[in-house]
Amino acid sequence: SSHASKESDASSQQFRRFHRLRSSPQLRDLMRENTVTMNDLIYPIFVEEEIDRFVPIEAMPGIFRIPERRLAREVKALAKEGIKALMLFGVSHHKDHTGSDSWAANGLLSRMVRCAKNAAPEMVIIADCCFCGYTSHGHCGVLHCDLIDNDLTLQNLTSQTIAAANAGADIVAPSAMMDGQVTAIRRGLDEAGFTNLPIMAYSSKFASGFYGPFRAAADCEPKGDRNTYQVDPLNGREALNESFADEQEGADILMVKPGLCYLDVLARLRDQSNTPIAAYQVSGEYAMIKFAAKAGAIDEHRLIRETLGAFKRAGADLILTYFARDIARNGFA
Ligand code: PBG
Ligand code: ZN
Repeated sequence: SSHASKESDASSQQFRRFHRLRSSPQLRDLMRENTVTMNDLIYPIFVEEEIDRFVPIEAMPGIFRIPERRLAREVKALAKEGIKALMLFGVSHHKDHTGSDSWAANGLLSRMVRCAKNAAPEMVIIADCCFCGYTSHGHCGVLHCDLIDNDLTLQNLTSQTIAAANAGADIVAPSAMMDGQVTAIRRGLDEAGFTNLPIMAYSSKFASGFYGPFRAAADCEPKGDRNTYQVDPLNGREALNESFADEQEGADILMVKPGLCYLDVLARLRDQSNTPIAAYQVSGEYAMIKFAAKAGAIDEHRLIRETLGAFKRAGADLILTYFARDIARNGFA
């Protein structure tokens, strides 16, 4: 009726038409506030010693433990596909009470860093520095009467990062959540002459149920839990303090981990810090998307775009994700 059309003429003056800038793909491309490129992505990989075949990780479809013997070939293939940075996790067959293989000059961590670096010198090689993959009890440090001995662990962590540096790591990434770990590592690296080696601190790392598939992948399920050293998922301010402390200790890059449940922490950290921030989309987040897609419940590609886009929107500079290889192959947008 003429009455209705008069009303809509009038109201078009009174509300904003957001649809105007969405009317074509070209306009939408022009208006997009965030995107993700291969320059933003770090691909985490698992390297197992003394095996000959790739081992599929059941809870992470598409992800395998790479035999150490096949690592060079695999890293070359990843570089060719467009991966620019790798986070290395070792799957050890030489576990002991302290995780001493992790800082041995020719231990798994040193060997895999050296091998990856030689295979693709232009690839950014990041060494995850922790003990849970190398200790018989699966905890991220030295145990004393069933409790983590923070300060003893700091000495070992310093040795481990120096070993990683000597092997050619481009960045060291301490993930043990020991207090004072960035101070200890920075001092150790500087004294060993590695003043220019960046530290990416797992700074706001929660005691999360989302790590389940990773623990099977890296064979690092602890006896008990990590609640005495990782942040309670219900605590946001405490997680921010952890990141501020690492920043003051000299961390070059901060991290929020896991990703999707902790976008509030990421956004608040972005507001309060100008240090680069990484978001880690962890194994359980990957698994949820993969299995939901397999069940036909969701479109995997759209969820990759949406979740990684959310990390960018919340303020992440870098994203660690098991989808990095999919994105290299299939694109992001
Ligand atoms: C251990 C470590 C964990 C992850 C990275 N390093 C698990 C844990 O703290 O138990 C999780 C990564 C993932 O779930 O993808 N230092
Ligand atoms: Zn650990």
